[in-house]
Amino acid sequence: MGGHEQRFIQEAFDTNWVVPLGPNVDGFEKDLEKFLDKDKHIVALGSGTAAIHLALIQLGVGPGDEVICQSFTFSASANPIKYLGADPVFVDSEPETWNMSPKFMRTAIKDRIEKTGKKPKAIIPVHLYGMPAKMEEILSIANEYEIPVLEDAAEALGSEYKGHKCGTFGEFACLSFNGNKMITTSGGGALVCSTKEEAIHTKFLATQARDNAPHYQHSHVGYNYRLSNICAGIGRGQMMVLDEHVERRRAIHALYMKELSNLPGVSVFDDPSEEFNSNHWLTCIIVSPNIVGFTREDLRLKMEEENIETRPLWKPMHLQPVFADASYYGDGTAEKLFNDGLCLPSGSSLTDEDIHRVVGVVKNMQ
Ligand SMILES: Cc1ncc(COP(=O)(O)O)c(C=O)c1O
Repeated sequence: MGGHEQRFIQEAFDTNWVVPLGPNVDGFEKDLEKFLDKDKHIVALGSGTAAIHLALIQLGVGPGDEVICQSFTFSASANPIKYLGADPVFVDSEPETWNMSPKFMRTAIKDRIEKTGKKPKAIIPVHLYGMPAKMEEILSIANEYEIPVLEDAAEALGSEYKGHKCGTFGEFACLSFNGNKMITTSGGGALVCSTKEEAIHTKFLATQARDNAPHYQHSHVGYNYRLSNICAGIGRGQMMVLDEHVERRRAIHALYMKELSNLPGVSVFDDPSEEFNSNHWLTCIIVSPNIVGFTREDLRLKMEEENIETRPLWKPMHLQPVFADASYYGDGTAEKLFNDGLCLPSGSSLTDEDIHRVVGVVKNMQ
């Protein structure tokens, strides 16, 4: 917490706005628009997952449709596809950004059209660990086939690609304010919309799709997905320290780079060029067992012995039992990353001493 959050919560109590709408919700949305892009229209929701769900509904996804989704991600990117009775088509990552491979994305689109006779309804690239996906290539292919893009920017608040903020490239983008993200509202998310009409419709769907009538009248299925005015108060306070959080995550990454990048067989995941400016939500490393003589699992267990929590990278969706039947296009890049990769402690509140303690464990393994 940055220290400003309770002021906004107190205001909500004092004015009795203890509901899923109110001045904090409006204020939080405005702050996010100012931060991301003032031409976008942002709707605060109960979670990033809800944002993906409402975006897919508005992109017309329904039973029997297919949606292209990055395989290397958290399951929340893909679950809403199933909520709608549609099927995910998983696409592998490329090794530079670890995100959606434009090459396999094109192969997938062509093959699905050939096999099913219809186009996938949407494309979900993810900016994983804060690293921007290759949006120029992805958008160019998507435009060629006229398939809308929904960016999953849940982990990428503050990241930039070619000078523009992640979350501003797609027709829609989702943000997450879950407890472990760049900023938190305890739980929460937002949908970034390209038009005012989309934002109005998102709010309508998120508040039980109530028609304009004095009584309760409904012509659509609705959802209870709005963010509470209390949680939005936390969000407004957090927006005041977002830049600091991004700066600290980048400094933590730079310190890991400085300490670890000369070790043979351990590589720190970094921006592939100046066009990519990750927020470095989490700093990740790849361990090459045939060079160092230990695996990432050996390292994880050693860290655990030292009371340091680390995690393997996301297990790709095409390898998850729940998506065993889904189509997949790729060459095993994400699987290899999962096998050899580890997320290091990266929270904004970690001190340089904490980072040196983590680094010490890696160095002692050599
Ligand atoms: C890549 C990715 N997509 C989507 C989500 C979903 O966000 P939420 O937890 O707010 O539903 C998360 C985080 O939890 C995530 O990491």
